[in-house]
Amino acid sequence: MIGIIGGSGLYEIPGFRESERVRINTPFGEPSDEFIIGSIGSRDVVFLSRHGHEHAIPPHRVNYRANIWGFREIGVKRIMAVNAVGGINTRYRPGDIVLPDQIIDFTKNRGQTFYDGPRVVHIDFTEPYCSEMRSVLLCTDGGILDGGTYICTEGPRLETAGEIAFYRNIGGHMVGMTQMPEAALAREATLCYLCIAVITNYAAGITRERLTTTEVVETMKQSTERVKQIIASAVEIMPVDRQCSCKDALRDAEL
Ligand code: HPA
Repeated sequence: MIGIIGGSGLYEIPGFRESERVRINTPFGEPSDEFIIGSIGSRDVVFLSRHGHEHAIPPHRVNYRANIWGFREIGVKRIMAVNAVGGINTRYRPGDIVLPDQIIDFTKNRGQTFYDGPRVVHIDFTEPYCSEMRSVLLCTDGGILDGGTYICTEGPRLETAGEIAFYRNIGGHMVGMTQMPEAALAREATLCYLCIAVITNYAAGITRERLTTTEVVETMKQSTERVKQIIASAVEIMPVDRQCSCKDALRDAEL
């Protein structure tokens, strides 16, 4: 089963057949929304809106642990996450779609792990994204940009120009607020995980324009059709069995 985390409305993919909606309670509390379960072709898929269907949960308040726990409980093995990002790399244009391959985490106050003791687990996170899923996604749309470092900030404010200059210096290509701890929790849960990053704006100070949430939302809306196409194609060609190492994430990881 394949999970998809994104904005509301993403599940209106042509060919998606909804079968049921479920609410799940987890040891970490309630997920952002109900899970929308259904199928695309012969494959079972589940959607979850990261910020809730009314977009009322800000990035620093998302219950990432409950969301990932819920997916696992339903039987999901792979997750595709859709994220809006600001472009730090000057080659990016708003509307570009990138599959990042690295993350630098600047979040501060989030539940970072399922293992808060007494079990102590240190997962290997050298490659934060599933390589198998990345290869599959890159086959769906020739225009997807391959690779890049995602800087995750705490938010909810946007960055200063100084911060973006620093992030650029340390190798950041894009900036957003929602990849962490989501990606790490997926790895702890032994799920495959990948990020489809949509460049919605130039990051602070990259252009002289003032940043607005309106611009972010508008660009995201314009990119939705392409993102849906990518997801629909990826679901259909995703191998049934997992050949990557994500499922073995807990091997030799526990103290
Ligand atoms: N900064 C942080 N998060 C974002 C941005 C940004 O410029 N655009 C979309 N999400």
